[in-house]
Amino acid sequence: MSTLRSPLSTSSSRDPSAIEKQALDHLWIQSQGVDWDELADGEGLKVFARGHGTTLVDLHGREYLDGLAGLFVVAVGHGRAEIAAAMADQARDVAYVAASRFSTPAVAQLAETLAELAPGDLDRTHFCSGGSEAVETAVKIARQAQTMRGFPKRYKVIARRGSYHGSTHGAMGLTSTSSEAYFGPFMSGTSFVPSPNRYRNDLELDGDAGDIMCAKLIEQEILTQGPETVAAVIGEPISGSNGVHVPSPVYWQMIREICDRHGVFLIFDEVVTGFGRTGTLFGAEQFGVVPDMMTIAKGLSSGYAPIGGVIVRSTVFEDFKRPGGSLSHLLTFGGHPVAAAAANKNLEILLEEELTAESAAKGEYLLSLLDGLRAHPTVGDVRGLGLLCGVELVKDRATKASWGGPRSPFVKALQRAMERRGLLTRAWDVLFLSPPLVVTRDELERTVTIIDESLSDAEREFASDIG
Ligand SMILES: Cc1ncc(COP(=O)(O)O)c(C=O)c1O
Repeated sequence: MSTLRSPLSTSSSRDPSAIEKQALDHLWIQSQGVDWDELADGEGLKVFARGHGTTLVDLHGREYLDGLAGLFVVAVGHGRAEIAAAMADQARDVAYVAASRFSTPAVAQLAETLAELAPGDLDRTHFCSGGSEAVETAVKIARQAQTMRGFPKRYKVIARRGSYHGSTHGAMGLTSTSSEAYFGPFMSGTSFVPSPNRYRNDLELDGDAGDIMCAKLIEQEILTQGPETVAAVIGEPISGSNGVHVPSPVYWQMIREICDRHGVFLIFDEVVTGFGRTGTLFGAEQFGVVPDMMTIAKGLSSGYAPIGGVIVRSTVFEDFKRPGGSLSHLLTFGGHPVAAAAANKNLEILLEEELTAESAAKGEYLLSLLDGLRAHPTVGDVRGLGLLCGVELVKDRATKASWGGPRSPFVKALQRAMERRGLLTRAWDVLFLSPPLVVTRDELERTVTIIDESLSDAEREFASDIG
């Protein structure tokens, strides 16, 4: 190891390629779905210097449209000076107090705002640092609450096949596509049921019928496991990483009734769908359902600081007020004042600029533009709600055969072609679109033009593979 230099004295602070080398030499870049050689080949890794609105600017001054809002995160857009100022003010006042027994005005304010904004009687928030922690916190709340209610055997959690709930070990255990080979065995007591998918329905049932059968299978799973052993059902109101599937309202309404009938908590994972993403403030509102707990992160601070939380109904919290009833759970950064200051300002902007309504209106426009892509032989489906949209990529429209995910040569070529034209998004079996809610109509048009041209490029290159 060399002698430590001041960051300002290093050549890397001036030379873009030296900074990129620094990152490639020493940074463990989180590259799910992307192999290292792709990042290291000179085009794969991008280091960004700044951003504004929907645009990110790399060290070379190249501009990109942020078609995924980072990772479904940045609701109010990049470069909001007012959020930076709120964070600086808070850091100057007090940057940290212990999360156990103490709090700060910023955190108390955020908890009250969330109680006002969340549906029904969801009115108490346990804070943490991100989505995975929020999911794990919710599961612990469910298990402890069931035990305190006199049901110590209710420890099982039913999740949905294909859903993503995070990368920490507990949250990964609820993610059916997690890498069992490397990380298993996972938490015991988890089982998976099919989830709504109107494009490739597991049950070969179309429309509402498929959704209704998926809801019935949740009840069947509760009965199979034994209701006296089940703590909770968890699901994203509208699936994000699983490919943007929007179920019929009757699906969640039935599940709400099923959970009530069997004394099972319903946890909505709103890490992606929260804060205006689907055109309502929370995904739950699309279905007229109030879950017992709701996990939040991402859009809560628009990524200006890492923060997440679980909002619970007042009836759930009642048990934790009893003597000896405190939750056995302490996170050092659970309720961080600077992160809360960022979230408070972010929510203020979201409400003042009516970005939820913007998301609904621009989402409709985006879907109408994406509909034009159906002319491509590799576009199997286009779907979404608000500014959470997906384009299903297929080899063959008749058989719906997929290309095989992000490592397939076609998908890689498409991803590169979009990036060269200045669009950042994520192409797997589904090409995801989830831009910041401040995106303009002009930017949406540019986004879809880039996808259109990039699909044509990739289709030309892989013409012989297309069915
Ligand atoms: C629905 C859902 N839940 C949980 C998570 C995990 O959040 P984090 O990456 O902040 O831990 C994600 C991340 O994408 C997610 O999409």
